[in-house]
Order: sequence, then C-alpha cells, then structure tokens
Amino acid sequence: MSETEHPPSPDGLPIFGNGVAFSRDPVEAMESWAAHGDLVHLRFMGESMYLVTHPDLIKQILVEEQHKFTIGPEQQETFAGVEDHAMTTATGDRWKRLRRAAHPAFTRESIASYGDRMASVTARFVDEWADGEQFDLHAEMRRLTVQILGETLLDADLRGQEEVVIEAADALVDRTNFRRPGQLLPDWIPTPTDRRFRRTVQRLDAFVDELVDERRDTGTAASDDVCATLLAAHEDGDLTLPEVKGNLVAFLLAGHESPAGTLTRVWYVFEDNPDVYEALCEEYDRVVSGDRPTIEHYDALEYTQHVVAETLRIYPPTTGVNRQATEPVTLDGYELPEGARFLIPQWVPHRDERFWDYPEAFIPDRWTRETDRPEYAYFPFSGGPRGCIGNDFARQELTLALATMVGRVDLDVTADEPLTFIPSVQLRPATDITAEVRRR
Ligand code: HEM
Repeated sequence: MSETEHPPSPDGLPIFGNGVAFSRDPVEAMESWAAHGDLVHLRFMGESMYLVTHPDLIKQILVEEQHKFTIGPEQQETFAGVEDHAMTTATGDRWKRLRRAAHPAFTRESIASYGDRMASVTARFVDEWADGEQFDLHAEMRRLTVQILGETLLDADLRGQEEVVIEAADALVDRTNFRRPGQLLPDWIPTPTDRRFRRTVQRLDAFVDELVDERRDTGTAASDDVCATLLAAHEDGDLTLPEVKGNLVAFLLAGHESPAGTLTRVWYVFEDNPDVYEALCEEYDRVVSGDRPTIEHYDALEYTQHVVAETLRIYPPTTGVNRQATEPVTLDGYELPEGARFLIPQWVPHRDERFWDYPEAFIPDRWTRETDRPEYAYFPFSGGPRGCIGNDFARQELTLALATMVGRVDLDVTADEPLTFIPSVQLRPATDITAEVRRR
C-alpha cells in the first residue's frame, strides 16, 4: 500500500501544467515523469491525467480489469469528424459489433492470404527506385504502406493517389500536435488546421465512397480482401454502409502511418548497426529462393521478424494508449475516481532497465532468449480486447516488406542524432531522414 493518498505529481507550469514539457520533447518528458513512480499524476491545460508505466499496472488496465475502462476522450476527440462511424471511436455494444464484423478479415488465415500482395507491392515499389536516387524516407515508406493497404483492403491500385490518405493523416496528426499555434484556442474557434482537416477528410471520405460503391456495382464475391469481408457483413445486416466505409477510412489512416514509421526506423537503425543489415541479407539469401519472398517464407524469416520486434520496442510508433475509468479503481494502492484519465506510453516500459538488459541497444537476438520479463513490458500494439486489430497484419507486412527490400537494395540513410519526435498521437520523427538507394 502506498504511504500517501495521491500518486506523485511532477512539477509543471501554472495553467499549462505538464503540457509544456511534453510539447518541447514528448519522450524526454514522459521519461522524466516516470522517474517519479510507476503511476504519476499530471496536469495538461487544467485536465488531470495519470501516466502509467509499470507492466503489471498496464496489464491490470488493458486486460485484467478492462471492463472498468473505456477509450479516453482524447481518442474520440482526435478521430471526431473522420472516424465517427468506425470502431476507433465506438464504445460498448456498438464497438463490439463493429469489431466482431471486421474480425474475419484479420484472422491468421485471412492475413496469410494477403501475404503475397504485401511482398509483390513492395517489389513493384522498390523496382521503381533508380540506383543513387535520394528521397525523404518516411514520406516514401508512407506511399508504400498506402499502396499495400490499397491492394489488401480494397483490391485497388492506389499508385499516384496516396496523397489522399497521407494528407488526411497529416491533418489528423497536426490537429493533435501540441506545438501547433491554435492548439490552445477553444474548440469553437476554427483555425487553418481545422479547415485543412475538414477539407482533407471530405476528400478521403469521397475517395473511399467511390471505391466501395464501385465494388458494390461490380459485385464483391470475386475479391478476397478486407472490403469484401465488410460488405458481406453489411449484406448480413451486421454493419451499415457508413460503418463499412468508416472502418475502411480508419484502416487506411491507422494502418499506414505506424508500419511506415517502423520501416523508416529500421533503416535508420541499420546506420549504427551494420551487422544487423548484414545478418538480414544473409537470412534472405539462405531462406528466399526466387525473385522475392512469399508467404511460405514467412516463418523461416525468423531474424527479420526479430528485427521488426526490436524496432517496435526501441521506437514504438504510438505515443501511448488512452483509457478512462468508468468506475472508481484501485491502482498501485491508490483509490482513483470514476472518470480518471490515463496515458499508457510504450516508450517508457520498452526502455526500462528493470525489464531489459541494455535497453538502449538494438539487439534482435534478445527475442530468441527465454525471459521472465513481465508480459506488458512490451506492448507496441496495446493489448486486451481493445488492442490493435491490425497487430498480426502489421507484423507480417513489416517482415515481408523488409525482406523484399533487403533482397533488392541497401539504403544509405542520413539523419541528425538522436531522433526527436513531434508531440502528437504518433511518435513521428521531427528529424529529417533521407535515404539514398544502392541496388544490391
Ligand atoms: C506497426 C504497426 C501498428 C502499430 C504499432 C499499431 C498500434 C496500435 C495501438 C497502440 C492501438 C490502440 C489500441 C488500444 O487503444 O488499446 C491501435 C488501434 C488500432 N489499430 Fe493499429 N497499429 C499498427 C498497425 C495497424 C494496421 C496495419 C491496421 C489496419 C490494417 C491497424 C488498425 C487499427 C485499428 C482499427 C485500431 C482501433 C481498434 C479498436 O478501437 O478496436 N493498426 N493500433
């Protein structure tokens, strides 16, 4: 039992509270707050928020006592106006129905059926790069992951149309960016960011509407993708048409940025860990016969899977998981009221030396060792019933896309050290990361 009634509370500025430190450097802020304890009380613009960083407390919230929590209002506010019909903003029975209807598209079997498309789209994408070509790596990886989603979600070739998704996601991240000037204004004052948000979201909605309507006109049975599963659920009366479209919009937004960020960071990590890139190439040459990997190679690409897992540990793509208590809860010995809000960041437990040897080092082989580490010291996809529906999809996509790239190119990456991040819902690098292509 704790000795005081309230969790420790790191100092913040009057009015803005701890938000100023977060806007300066989100990961440094979260690390410094966590130094006060496993459960810490923060204030953001007068709002109370608890930071939770011990794996056992995280498991309690996400799994063991998940029925006492719902997604935080932050998540609903972030996605309001763009994912109103999607599972991301839904709660209670509506969320259960939306999630259940989408489930068949994310079973292991369905995901395996997307495997060859994940690799072939990557091969097609990489083959367009010329030797010596230079680009903004994150922007390029986002175009790639949007194209992969186009083929696997919608059976559509989105080459040349990626910006529709990318601009809407940028507007979303901007809206939650603590550094943007209008962030401190009341919600009813429209800012240029809000206007841009509305414009890009309308464009994305119209884009998905058109693709889905086209599919309905031509019949859905022939295709084997996420859209077909959702339309089948619509025909069975389990989803409304706006819910089918809303979920597809949510998958396009949630499903492209995190995988793209992870691929960007993998290549960034190779710069300081050339032995990892060499080991990947060695595995590729040993395991993959033919022009590129297929789903049959997936299990054997063990080292590649470990590189992906380690990248998600050291650079988790999301800032954290949000929850709100729907009834009074006892956490770490403290009695917290109904309505208490929680931020559960991956960055801190993923690098906590109580649970990891050499937490700052990139060691893919740590994933081959037996360990008694608590389960929720690692949760890039969150966990429990509300955890990421795209977890297995993303791990398979990242493994096959990375192997396909490694079989074809080396990327010479330039970036300032260490990486810094935009204070937003995603830990998107604020640092420019450029890459130059060297064909293998
Ligand atoms: C590296 C890749 C990814 C990471 C790290 C990631 C991480 C996350 C996290 C942390 C959450 C919050 C879960 C919670 O509140 O407990 C989430 C939710 C979600 N993710 Fe992902 N994600 C990734 C890829 C994907 C992909 C590829 C898709 C779809 C194709 C996707 C779709 C979603 C959806 C729809 C939700 C909301 C689930 C719900 O509310 O029930 N994600 N993701």
